[in-house]
Amino acid sequence: MIALVVNGKRHAVDVAPDTPLLWVLRDNLGLTGTKYGCGEGVCGACTVHIDGRAERSCQISVKDAHGKRITTIEGLAKGHPVKKAWLAEDVSQCGWCQPGQIMQAAALLREKPAPSNADIDSAMEGNLCRCGTYQRIRAAIHMAAREAGKGGVR
Ligand code: FES
Ligand code: FES
Repeated sequence: MIALVVNGKRHAVDVAPDTPLLWVLRDNLGLTGTKYGCGEGVCGACTVHIDGRAERSCQISVKDAHGKRITTIEGLAKGHPVKKAWLAEDVSQCGWCQPGQIMQAAALLREKPAPSNADIDSAMEGNLCRCGTYQRIRAAIHMAAREAGKGGVR
């Protein structure tokens, strides 16, 4: 059994130690908000926070995630400025890439509360969107930064 702390809750999972964290989140814990895209670390659909940093959960084994603080899209507060801005800007199209985009954006804003367009492009470049929502993603991140600056939840 491997112990994991996900969204503040402790879990014990009975899987091989080299199982990707993404499989465990989705198949063992039922946290299907985190998406499978490429499985190779190049699309960003599976992005979660590990100890507050955006990481690709398809590239991390449960063994390596043990003892760390894991947050998925389900664990990001409902009133989080990024979630609110995503709705306000109507960012999603098919939606598949969006949980990963949101997690990546939330991590960016934690590091850079008022990112420039260049900061956003650099932080988000590894999160692919086949529907081409990039302009709305950028607008939503700017909106979230403005709202967070007014004292919203981060
Ligand atoms: S599924 Fe993990 S980066 Fe694509
Ligand atoms: S919204 Fe469809 S892949 Fe990004």
